[in-house]
Amino acid sequence: MMSSSSFRFKLLLPIVFGCLMTASAGNFWNDVDITWGDGRGKILDNGQFLTLSLDKASGSGFQSKNQYLFGKFDMQLKLVPGNSAGTVTTFYMKSPGSTWDEIDFEFLGNLSGDPYILHTNVFSQGKGNKEQQFYLWFDPTADFHTYSILWNPERIIFSVDDTPIREFKNMESKGVTYPKSQPMRIYSSLWNADDWATRGGLVKTDWSQAPFTASYRNFNTNGCVWPNEASSCTPTSQSSASDNNSWLTQELDSTSQQKMQWVQKNYMIYNYCADIKRFPQGLPSECNVS
Ligand SMILES: *[C@@H]1O[C@H](CO)[C@@H](O)[C@H](O)[C@H]1NC(C)=O
Ligand SMILES: *[C@@H]1O[C@H](CO)[C@@H](O)[C@H](O)[C@H]1NC(C)=O
Repeated sequence: MMSSSSFRFKLLLPIVFGCLMTASAGNFWNDVDITWGDGRGKILDNGQFLTLSLDKASGSGFQSKNQYLFGKFDMQLKLVPGNSAGTVTTFYMKSPGSTWDEIDFEFLGNLSGDPYILHTNVFSQGKGNKEQQFYLWFDPTADFHTYSILWNPERIIFSVDDTPIREFKNMESKGVTYPKSQPMRIYSSLWNADDWATRGGLVKTDWSQAPFTASYRNFNTNGCVWPNEASSCTPTSQSSASDNNSWLTQELDSTSQQKMQWVQKNYMIYNYCADIKRFPQGLPSECNVS
């Protein structure tokens, strides 16, 4: 018997394979546009390296040239060091419009020596409210670390250095909307959010430390590119042997599940699915899964 989820997946395959599958080991000049910040975002070293900065006048940000419908996206980031309280660095995907889909990593800065918070969320049809937050098991300002979003028709997996920290499954069968038809662009930004970011807004940005700088390298995308001007993906035979489409069906094996449990047990500091006070009428239906 065919499960409803494999049935749904079969329906999606023609859409997915109708897109242009590409793998790209990043060059920032080819892959992104710096979209705001008036020179505070910089591409360096022939496209191998990118920095964003923030001062009292402005933050900065960039976005991918391509839009994607599913894929695996990796970025190496080294976060603002020292006193980063009040700053937020983001790495996320988003579709346009008022019923947008979005998959978020946000890094909330802190005083020197105090831990960053890694904030995650998933939006579907313009609705989020699916926050999970984590401390990291290393100092994210000392070195580059890899932050990855895997997005396929069945699941979204957030990973840090190849350790999965969160999985959001397609539970449309339970009436939970899932991002699966709106192509998304990848975005990143560094901005001031001292009204809420650090200890809920208690600790303000110390502008005497500005400019604040976050660094990026090794942007890898392995996904289905959705052409900008076309109403549907272009059929293509350009997928080459070097393209690795394992992301399309990837799921967590038992080793990965154990790693994720380790992170969630030891480093998760907020889980909307455990926030009974916030949902007095009952937890969202995706939470009631054993
Ligand atoms: C900052 O440090 C404080 C004190 O350790 C901690 O409660 C908080 O979760 C940390 N992170 C942020 C972003 O506030
Ligand atoms: C494809 O990628 C997966 C994980 O991303 C990896 O385990 C696998 O070895 C890769 N396969 C090839 C042929 O490169």
